[in-house]
Amino acid sequence: MATKVNFIVITIYFVIYVGSSSFKVSGSSRVVGGYDAPYEFGRFHASLQNVTGSHVCGGAVISLSRAVTAAHCVVGADPMYIKVVVGTTNLDIGGQEFDVKSIDIHENYNYSLRTNDIAIVTIDGMFDTRTINVLEVDDISLTEDDPVILTGFGAQTPNGESSRVMYALNLSVFSQETCEYAMRYSRQVVDTMFCTFTQIGQGTCHGDSGGPLIKNNKLVGLVSWGIPCAVGFPDVHTRISSFADWIRSKIN
Ligand SMILES: *[C@@H]1O[C@H](CO)[C@@H](O)[C@H](O)[C@H]1NC(C)=O
Ligand SMILES: *[C@@H]1O[C@H](CO)[C@@H](O)[C@H](O)[C@H]1NC(C)=O
Ligand SMILES: *[C@@H]1O[C@H](CO)[C@@H](O)[C@H](O)[C@H]1NC(C)=O
Repeated sequence: MATKVNFIVITIYFVIYVGSSSFKVSGSSRVVGGYDAPYEFGRFHASLQNVTGSHVCGGAVISLSRAVTAAHCVVGADPMYIKVVVGTTNLDIGGQEFDVKSIDIHENYNYSLRTNDIAIVTIDGMFDTRTINVLEVDDISLTEDDPVILTGFGAQTPNGESSRVMYALNLSVFSQETCEYAMRYSRQVVDTMFCTFTQIGQGTCHGDSGGPLIKNNKLVGLVSWGIPCAVGFPDVHTRISSFADWIRSKIN
């Protein structure tokens, strides 16, 4: 029972492969370089939580009953032990909570390569359109330097807890080639992934996995892997344009 839930947590912490206890983000009040997310971002960001109400991963509302997230967030998890909270930028105030009915992991998800790191979570019930917005899935492939916005409840420091307050961070799409090179000792960065990087002290941390990246209010990416907490490496994301047809086939 508890093993299943622990497994979700373990798969997320799997991305910690940098010892960084001495690393501190000084002067940053929000999660690794971000700013307080505006209220509207709470309308499409889904917080996937364990049974005790701790935020574990992010997700994006893509239909009235579904959210998309990273496969590594939910693989092996029992839907019974996951809750989806939407409609708020502060997990202690407001928001609606739903049980999960089913989880669809991408058929070709590969845990070690982190390819096809995408899954759909179907809730028991329907989101309330007064508090949520369905994010449109973007078919257009991103190109280098495109501005994107990341939203998340991830931690602020390598050993920190997830945040109860959502943050947002303006990033830009990083050169695919340079990213491949920068990440060469971790995993291969393939075409169905893209990277973001601005500077040390701005990026994703634990708990941001599965969360959406948007461009012009459309979903363009999901946080997938990297060397966490903005220590100077790019963050790697699932490229949504590569999975737009897959998503549609699952929600129609
Ligand atoms: C939920 O997650 C929190 C934070 O990671 C953890 O401390 C807690 O034990 C988890 N609860 C369960 C039931 O696994
Ligand atoms: C993942 O990919 C590696 C390398 O191609 C392969 O050896 C492995 O069997 C794959 N794993 C799964 C679960 O498909
Ligand atoms: C982030 O980007 C949005 C959209 O381009 C812009 O309106 C906002 O001012 C930016 N915020 C920061 C802190 O750079």
